[in-house]
Amino acid sequence: MALRNVLTDENPALHKVCRPYTEFGPRLHQLLDDMIETLIDADGVGIAAPQVGIIRRACIVMETNVAEGEEPYFIELINPEIVLAEGEQEGAEGCLSFPGRFGIVCRPEHVVVKALDRNGEPFEVEGHGLTARAFCHEIDHLDGVVFVEKATHMLTDEELAQLRGDDDEDADEELDGETAE
Ligand code: NI
Repeated sequence: MALRNVLTDENPALHKVCRPYTEFGPRLHQLLDDMIETLIDADGVGIAAPQVGIIRRACIVMETNVAEGEEPYFIELINPEIVLAEGEQEGAEGCLSFPGRFGIVCRPEHVVVKALDRNGEPFEVEGHGLTARAFCHEIDHLDGVVFVEKATHMLTDEELAQLRGDDDEDADEELDGETAE
């Protein structure tokens, strides 16, 4: 496994519609392993292939809604599609490709996603809350759409400081963990 370089906003790779996978071999597996390592290193909750310069439909989402005492885990999604979206949530969102920038984005509260695993086997997975947000954010990346295009408001430095300083350190940690996608 190896860390991959995360591209930032000015890179055209982030604004392209990605091609689907038709082969599920070692190249894809290496990419997925590297993306997970890169995501852990960056302390984010999701990453998409175009963010590491690969214009293909693959992304990783961390499932953080786990029972107490259980570790969050990574969901690998190849050629994912949202097949059901319900409800609405509004909240602050960020992106590994836009370091330090956060914006308010409206997303569904619950989604069902159809995808292939790394071996090309189909599966369905659902997400609520932050996980639903992460699915939508990552799948947008595969269509060349970045969150700043969807944000109804980008947080100012003052608003960000206020959000972080609101409570205690827990709130701070939560913000870091929940917004970097
Ligand atoms: Ni992102």
